[in-house]
Amino acid sequence: MITTVKTHPYTDQKMGTAGLRRKSKVVMQENYIENFMQSIFNVISNLQDKVFLLGGDGRFYNDIAIQKIIKMAAANGVKKLIIGQNGFISTPAGSNIILQNKLNGGFILSASHNPGGINGDFGIKYSNETGGQIPAQLSDKIYQQTISISEYKICLGPDVDLSQLGTQEYCGMSIEVIDPVKDYVELMQKIFDFAAIKKMFANGFTMRFDAMNAVTGPYAVAIFEDLLGAAKGSVVNAVPKPDFGGLHPDPNLVYAKDLVDFMFSDQATDFGAANDGDGDRNMILGKSFFVTPNDSLAILTDNFNLIPYYKDGIYGVAKSAATSTAVARVAKAHNIGYYEVPTGWKYFVNLMDSKRITFCGEESFGTGSSHIREKDGIWAVLFWLNILAATGKTVEEITVEHWKKYGRSYYIRFDFEGVDTAVADKLMADLESKLPSLSGKTFGDFIVSDAAPFIYHDPVDGSSTKNGLIIRFTDGSRIVYRLSGTGSSGATIRVYLERFCAKDILQNPLDMVSPLAHIALDVAEIPERTGKHQADVVT
Ligand code: G1P
Ligand code: ZN
Repeated sequence: MITTVKTHPYTDQKMGTAGLRRKSKVVMQENYIENFMQSIFNVISNLQDKVFLLGGDGRFYNDIAIQKIIKMAAANGVKKLIIGQNGFISTPAGSNIILQNKLNGGFILSASHNPGGINGDFGIKYSNETGGQIPAQLSDKIYQQTISISEYKICLGPDVDLSQLGTQEYCGMSIEVIDPVKDYVELMQKIFDFAAIKKMFANGFTMRFDAMNAVTGPYAVAIFEDLLGAAKGSVVNAVPKPDFGGLHPDPNLVYAKDLVDFMFSDQATDFGAANDGDGDRNMILGKSFFVTPNDSLAILTDNFNLIPYYKDGIYGVAKSAATSTAVARVAKAHNIGYYEVPTGWKYFVNLMDSKRITFCGEESFGTGSSHIREKDGIWAVLFWLNILAATGKTVEEITVEHWKKYGRSYYIRFDFEGVDTAVADKLMADLESKLPSLSGKTFGDFIVSDAAPFIYHDPVDGSSTKNGLIIRFTDGSRIVYRLSGTGSSGATIRVYLERFCAKDILQNPLDMVSPLAHIALDVAEIPERTGKHQADVVT
């Protein structure tokens, strides 16, 4: 049943910020998945002893890719695959299964928050035994395989039925189909005070959770409606669809517009939240109120002692360099460790494994803790519900009190999308060489204190990574520039603007960062070089 197939390399299989992510039509090319998976299997030793998790967010091509991976894992002599029923698993639930069961790693089929469907994106994330995505050194090794591959192994058996729970033998490999929801729900029950949250709902508290027709629907219904007693129908867009019902499953002010409009209307519930395609991102809303992910990370960290699982204390906290400095002030106040890493969750994993941090987050709607090694959308929502239940306050009250205590980092991200790759690369290179000359320069009210590339030295594995360019100002404000590493075509220039105010905390964020936006565009010559005078996405 096992055969070896000749193939030719593809040159574009380098993993980005979070695994391999490409247009569906690219991934559907002959042998594309096969080449990539064989390249992974080629770098793993002793496959006969290895057990991997497999599942995806249910997007278009999930079912076909899963069957290919099963057949190739069997042909390569993998001991066992644990697979989510019908091929479904959320990224956080997958990370939990790897950690709890001490698996050797896993494959999550998802392009996260990118749209799905034949004209959308598809992706594969490869996690190791930490339950987090593999480090860059290993993905480089895999990339080397992809550009020289000449054959792959596959089992010629029939497709595997993934609809029934239980264990089966397939082509000499063991397959266990599991309920993707159960273990995750149990983990959440261990972390949060479900009784207190349940009581809050029983007393009339209302919420709306938008699952965006993606993977978290079944998890959210089980947790918020069935266990915690939120009214039936509190979870909307709850049934996962291969094309996400045409939605762009990215929980932010632009793409979760229906939820945002609802939360700013007269019908608003007390609390609103959304998750992304594979369940690792979250957006938090109160009545007519939006909490930025930067503030959310700072607020969760500041309130750790309200959560049963963390009440005995936490290790430090980490954020990506592009994320605002709000959490840094909390870390200082609590006298806990504080780290800044490059963009991408994989950089948090060493810090969690070495017990340097408990919490971490990114401005891109990612928040999480060391309960797993991925960001966790539903965890963040439950954390907020637990805070609200413990304090009896509203989302807005909690956030405004936080700003009063710590000051406020007004924060906006500008994305310039679809830029020619060569133009974007040159823009960043030229900007980098210009940075030293900016030090001490005055732009209106802002004086540059320091301008340099962000270089991270991992305290655990000793590796160094350069990611983005940062201009810092004497008042604590910052401009960060990066190129996106998750797009499937062209380049996206991200410009992150942060303006710190110790006292003036109730202004409009866009107005507050607007002087920084002008500086950012001018210094990098974005309009001249890209022809864009405005960002395509402002979040
Ligand atoms: C984006 C986000 C980053 C996040 C990643 C995966 O990456 O900016 O914070 O970790 O998606 O969800 P980027 O496209 O900026 O490389
Ligand atoms: Zn995601």
